[in-house]
Formats: sequence, structure tokens, C-alpha cells
Amino acid sequence: MFRSKISGLGYYVPENVVTNDDLSKLMDTNHEWIVERTGIHERRHKALEEDTTSGMGVKAARIAMERAGVEAKDIDFVVFATLSPDYYFPGPGVLLQRDLGLNNVAALDIRAQCSGFIYALSIADQYIKTGMYKTVLVVGSEVHSAGLDMTTRGRGVSVIFGDGAGAAVLTRSENENQGLLSTHIHSQGEHAEELSLLAPGMGGRWVTDILKDNDPDDISYTPYMNGQFVFKNAVVRFSEVINEGLEANGLQVSDINMLIPHQANLRISQFIQQKFGLSDDQVFNNIQKYGNTTAASVPIALTEAWESGKIKEGDLVVLAAFGSGFTWGSVVIRW
Ligand code: UT7
Repeated sequence: MFRSKISGLGYYVPENVVTNDDLSKLMDTNHEWIVERTGIHERRHKALEEDTTSGMGVKAARIAMERAGVEAKDIDFVVFATLSPDYYFPGPGVLLQRDLGLNNVAALDIRAQCSGFIYALSIADQYIKTGMYKTVLVVGSEVHSAGLDMTTRGRGVSVIFGDGAGAAVLTRSENENQGLLSTHIHSQGEHAEELSLLAPGMGGRWVTDILKDNDPDDISYTPYMNGQFVFKNAVVRFSEVINEGLEANGLQVSDINMLIPHQANLRISQFIQQKFGLSDDQVFNNIQKYGNTTAASVPIALTEAWESGKIKEGDLVVLAAFGSGFTWGSVVIRW
């Protein structure tokens, strides 16, 4: 078995900064409520025509590939995580494969929402471990702003989410002690509808139904979240899956140099930090600037933490996420 490692990281966010005050002009909300309940000060919304899910993924991927020192011809496989694809089908993986000019390699789309990047890393890791692929491009990208209910009716969701993309290049590690030590992924479909966007869907309401009914009270095509229920489950699953990762490797909480939690809510990150007794230097948060960017949040945070020198060679880095599905997971990395 081989070991995989992250050889390059990159992210891209649209230039359009949307502040809490901007949102309070559209709906009944205010800066104080949003900061107190979520920690978010601002987020990005798509600005340019090319700020599509695949387009932003391409920009993040180019940076990650340059930093990894790999070219388009070197990529063996693409794993792309998103809940906001450019098209209903095909998924954004093939659009990115085309736009980056990759060989005709497989492009796999992952639908695991906030845990999407963790799932994607886990899949990429398996292919590298077996020796089937040497270089895998893993991308998480979201354009939430195009699909949110920007009225008071949608305020419980729309103030939280933002647009952005992050990418990582995984390669075979030359050093068996360095790289991804383990990945752990889970789901609980019992709570599928607690954080969901129900339409359009072949099992429920399709676009033609929505257009035909033209019902202003129909909320099936904007995201729904049972916030408090999701919050309570998030703190439990985050803790469980971080412990699972540590135990699998015979490690202790005190071994963690950097925890990168999915940026769902600053209060969730702070709860986890407190529960594990970690210092401010051991947990990275940037939800204040970007909101919750779902599948992009972990790679954006990981890239920023690495760029700012907060992750050094030899560090133990733990990534963890929880979200719609419910899905959750962790990745333990020796950097
Ligand atoms: O990324 C995937 C995983 N996601 C999460 O883990 C998110 C988990 N949930 C949360 O982060 C929080 O539950 C929220 C931030 C979504 C909501 O915070 P909360 O403290 O749970 O608030 P709440 O939903 O209980 O709402 C409290 C009040 C309500 O008013 P009443 O009924 O008390 O009069 C809401 O209508 O706040 C009201 N409210 C707002 N007020 C101003 C809800 N959204 C807003 C808003 N601005 N944007």
C-alpha cells in the first residue's frame, strides 16, 4: 500500500463582498444577530460570469496544481464535491476536466454537501493507496448565492451561506510517515430532509411542476434547515469523528497541531475547541469572512491556514466536517 499526501492547495472566492448590513437591506435581519449566532461578518457572492461552480473550481485547481508542480497531463483522476452544480447533469467534474484541458481521465462528482471535500479526499486517498493513480485533483466548490431565498422568509439560511472554491492535489507520498494517515466517513439518511433542497427532483417536484403551479408560498426549491436540530447533531458528530480519527492512529487530542473544522457556525467550532481543550492556535476559523461555503469550506480554510504559516512540516492536522445528509467525516494528516 502507498500513502497519499497533499502536494498543493489553492482557493478562489468571488470579489463581491456582501456584508451583514447589505443583507439587512433585503430582509429583516441585522449585523448583531448574525455575528452573535454565527460569527459571520461577511461572505462572497458570485460577481463575474465565470464565477460558476466549475469555473471557480478551475481557478482554485490551477493554483493548487502550480503549487504541487503538476501539469494538466499529470492528473490521473478528478473528484469534485458540490451541492450547487452548474447543471442538473452532467456534474461539474467533467466541465473542470474540459476547462483545465486534462486527459480523458475519470471525473467523479460527490454529493455529500458540507462533508463533500472530506468524502472526496477519502476517495482520492483510496485510489492512491492501491497504486491505481498517482496524482488526483480534489475540488470543492459552491455557488450558493444563485439559489438562496433572499427575503425574510429565507433569513435562517441565506445569511449563513457564501460562494467559493478550494482544491488540493493529492500525490503518492515518498515518505511513509508523511501524508493522510486515515479517513473516516459516515452518513445517517434518517435526517435527510432536516437540511435539504427538495426540488427539482425526480422523486418529488420537477421544474415543470414548479413553473405550472407558480406558487409564491412554495419553498421546496430553496434550501431548508432545521437549524437547532442540525446544530445539536453537528456538535456530537464532530466530536465523535475527531475522536475516531485520533483513536485509529493511536493519537491523543494533545497531538493535534491544527484542527480545521468545516465552517458551519463559529459557535460550533468554539464548542468543539472548548470540549477538546484546544487553544486558539490549534483551531482555524475563517467563517467570519466567507460564511459557510459547504464543500469549499475545508479546502479554503486549509489553504489559508497553510498560506499563513500555521501548518508546518511534521504537524498533525485534523480535518472534520458535518452537514446535510446527514453526512460527516474526518481526515488525519501528518503534514
Ligand atoms: O453546514 C452544515 C451544518 N450546518 C450547521 O451546523 C448549522 C447549524 N445551525 C445553526 O448554525 C443555527 O441553528 C442557526 C445559525 C441556523 C440559527 O441560530 P439559532 O440560534 O439556532 O436561532 P433560531 O433558529 O433558534 O432562531 C432564533 C430566532 C427566531 O426568532 P423567534 O422565533 O425567537 O422570534 C428566528 O426567527 O432568530 C430568528 N432568526 C433571525 N433573526 C434575525 C432566524 N434567522 C434570523 C436572521 N436574522 N437571519
